[in-house]
Amino acid sequence: MIERYIQFLGLDETINYLKANELPLTPSIRTNTLKISTSELRKRLENKGFELEPIEWIPHAFNVLKTPYNLGSSHEFLQGYYYLQNVASMLSAIILDPKPNDTVIDMCAAPGSKSTHLAQLMENEGTLILIDRNKNRIPALEINLRRMGIINSIVLNMDAVNVSNLHIKADKILLDAPCTGEGLIRQDPDRKKSKNIRYIEKMALIQKKLLKTGLNTLKTRGNLLYCTCSIAPEENELVVNDTLKSLDNFSIVDISNKYGLKGLTEVFGINLIEDLKFSQRLYPHIHDTIGFYYCLITKL
Ligand SMILES: C[S@@+](CC[C@H](N)C(=O)[O-])C[C@H]1O[C@@H](n2cnc3c(N)ncnc32)[C@H](O)[C@@H]1O
Repeated sequence: MIERYIQFLGLDETINYLKANELPLTPSIRTNTLKISTSELRKRLENKGFELEPIEWIPHAFNVLKTPYNLGSSHEFLQGYYYLQNVASMLSAIILDPKPNDTVIDMCAAPGSKSTHLAQLMENEGTLILIDRNKNRIPALEINLRRMGIINSIVLNMDAVNVSNLHIKADKILLDAPCTGEGLIRQDPDRKKSKNIRYIEKMALIQKKLLKTGLNTLKTRGNLLYCTCSIAPEENELVVNDTLKSLDNFSIVDISNKYGLKGLTEVFGINLIEDLKFSQRLYPHIHDTIGFYYCLITKL
């Protein structure tokens, strides 16, 4: 795996990346503005001894610098006033930018970190269809929806590859694809040893199927955000590249220079679609986040 990193990051960047993966991640929370204002939440948590620092580039979000006790056991958490969520995950709903009257599909929704954020940006209006194939993950999704007071969603336990059976066309689709989670090593060191190229290739096949189906479910001028918590090009730029090459009427939206580094347009000696430079990569050693990838695609 490290040899692969050296191929697409170079030696110095690889060393920096590996070192950053050893550093703890600052916990962060997102205010649930459906239930409480950001200032009121801040006041309540600071009165209890939590030390919060607003995250400038993400509305309603805080880094939590000091916690007198577990962030998941405060009254405010249990009442759904905030969601414990890492910064990279928060950016997904912000980039997709759903509006109150949109029809939105989250193709891989459980346990609902991004779904509850989508609902918040939709102001609990419109229609939010939440799909997940894994029955065991549905209860966690439903508990989070209930805790956060979400009332504009429908949960479907199905394979998102069959989303066309619903006969719905969406304004916005989130495809937070199942992946190797290579970017999560900072949160879960066991992942250092559990990744290999065969697993990456297996996930890439599933990702391409899901992406193709998702794109075919968009309305004209609708947007789909493809994202993964992986830095592997095979699960990111190569998935988008291979999928878009076989489809007409789609283009990559320019979200570059906003959050992370530009997506790769050449990797492992392969030239990719030039517009992949408009996609975004987040790295632990540069952005102090987990490793993440976003590509926003629009139907023309
Ligand atoms: C990266 S996790 C999603 C995390 C979620 N979006 C969040 O922010 O909380 C990927 C999810 O995809 C689901 N999944 C995997 N293959 C799927 C498929 N073919 N159709 C629908 N869901 C699938 C998994 O069960 C898993 O819950």
